[in-house]
Amino acid sequence: MRTDSCGEVNEKNIGSSVTIAGWTNKWRDHGGVVFIDLRDRSGVVQVVFSPEVDVELHKAAHKIRSEYVLQVEGDVRQRPEGTVNTSIPTGQVEVVAKSFRVLNECKPLPFMVEDETDASENLRYRYRYLDLRRPAIQKNLIIRHKAVRTIREFLDFKGFLDIETPVLTKSTPEGARDYLVPSRTNPGQFFALPQSPQIFKQILMVSGMERYYQIVRCFRDEDLRADRQPEFTQVDMELSFVKPEDIMAIIEEMLRKVFKETINIDLNESFRKLTYHEAMDKYGSDKPDLRFGLELKDVSDIVKDSTFKVFLDTLAKGGMVKGINAKGLAGYSRKELDDLTKEVQGYGAKGLAWMKVKETVESPIAKFFPAEALQALTERLEAENGDLMLFVADRKDVTNDCLSRLRNELGKRLDLIKEGVYEFAWITDFPLFEYNDDEKRYEAMHHPFTAPVEEDMEQFMSDVGARHALPLRAQAYDIVLNGYEIGGGSIRIHKKEVQDRMFQLLNISPEEAEEKFGFLLEALQYGAPPHGGIALGLDRLIMVMTGAHSIRDVIAFPKTQKAVCPLSNAPSSVDEKQLKELSIKLDIVE
Ligand code: AMO
Ligand code: AMP
Repeated sequence: MRTDSCGEVNEKNIGSSVTIAGWTNKWRDHGGVVFIDLRDRSGVVQVVFSPEVDVELHKAAHKIRSEYVLQVEGDVRQRPEGTVNTSIPTGQVEVVAKSFRVLNECKPLPFMVEDETDASENLRYRYRYLDLRRPAIQKNLIIRHKAVRTIREFLDFKGFLDIETPVLTKSTPEGARDYLVPSRTNPGQFFALPQSPQIFKQILMVSGMERYYQIVRCFRDEDLRADRQPEFTQVDMELSFVKPEDIMAIIEEMLRKVFKETINIDLNESFRKLTYHEAMDKYGSDKPDLRFGLELKDVSDIVKDSTFKVFLDTLAKGGMVKGINAKGLAGYSRKELDDLTKEVQGYGAKGLAWMKVKETVESPIAKFFPAEALQALTERLEAENGDLMLFVADRKDVTNDCLSRLRNELGKRLDLIKEGVYEFAWITDFPLFEYNDDEKRYEAMHHPFTAPVEEDMEQFMSDVGARHALPLRAQAYDIVLNGYEIGGGSIRIHKKEVQDRMFQLLNISPEEAEEKFGFLLEALQYGAPPHGGIALGLDRLIMVMTGAHSIRDVIAFPKTQKAVCPLSNAPSSVDEKQLKELSIKLDIVE
């Protein structure tokens, strides 16, 4: 139906005839001549309908509306001087129409197909096919396609086997709720959709596959955010006979290739490494944005010499006081400071203490600090004349969380975040356990199949291990990019007695462990090799690579914040007969 793609018509075609097809991007009438931008996936080209060429054709062109699908035959010519558009590849030329066909019409649009749209997300997803016609979103999906192609080629080259694992399966504990699927043939029983292929990929190692990968959909029923979807895609890998360094080296090589081949970016030779504790100390987060500095500083030891009650009370309760230097912001007005305080309170802090560094330190709370303490604070935060020191006092986790978010906000305000910069880091030495204060029990920080570091194994296996479980370290590693956790993995437990011990420390009874994970526990007893792996969040990776603001902009058919699909209207109710077949009775609590 066509000889050329719209976006590829250029000077080489001048003087020849082309047939193109696509959507009507823009229609305008200029001094009796009709101009149309015809768009296909490759781009747009200007088509001219002139009464001087063909009166009837020119008349017919007036019937064309936005997003009509056209086939146009015409002659390519150089655009007249003054009408050249250097911002598009076809901007030197135009196609003078000799004939055209309307291949299909289009109803009046709910929103214009343009890169900058103010249409609501609901409307965009309801008409996702129109939304997907926007070149910006198409570009994201093309980058995604190229990245996946590069990943597959690379992993194949490295000897990985692409093996599928079940989707109708049993719960895998990754910390979210399961999506359940009722079984018709086993009334009252349910499959769980996989939160990840974790257990199956470990079993594939027991099976001797040695290197597995899968680009796989995972399902997690959790509260959604800009970087989360209920179904998302992992680049999931597992390897036998490896140490963490082996896995990190493969991932680094793979990502370097992906960035080079898809967006032509050369990444650093080797990625930075930070321990979990370093990351928390310096940035208050285990997924720090390393495109800028603005490190946090613990000032608890300095402020203990003040008489500021808020700080002293916090320290007395075992909390901490940390500060950050907002470079050059000493000029902030009272209102700006109040607004910033409100913002940080929104993160969960009780307040935000500030000190402006000028000739002297100016602050409503300066009077509570001896001169030496003010001096020490200025030195600790490396503050100079013109800087603004900001402090939060609270429980350690709250202080870190609030200041890490403030740090990100300041990074934006101070314009420290540069486009096109990709700062990767590995976060290592995670704690094996974290304490869940609400449920008053230990939880695995990564997942319960993660092995402790070798030096901590003895303590882990010993009886006192349980009481001292918190400082134990895991052989786990996350990979972060520009403030996002884009992947995580670990070396696994490959011995049954160690896995039993893990369940014991997590307060999972042998009966429960048998019921939930018996098949893994059994497999571990049949010559399971040492193994480990990682999963990258593909959607997040592509989101950062493309500079998209939301993970939804790199997924063809995403779900909204409420985990629904406005296009298909899923989820939806089912008829009584289907429920009956599944032996299900509804009892809906409004
Ligand atoms: P984890 O739970 O860390 O590890 O998941 C791996 C990566 O998947 C991405 N991710 C998500 N992306 C979008 N929406 C979500 N709801 C979502 N949840 C997670 C993140 C994350 O880093 N089985 C282990 C991996 C392993 O140990 O090998 C696992 O699933 O980028
Ligand atoms: P107050 O004495 O409560 O009026 O607080 C004096 C200043 O300390 C205000 O700027 C508060 O925002 C700030 N502030 C209060 N609580 C905290 C806290 N937990 N951490 C940091 N600053 C705080």
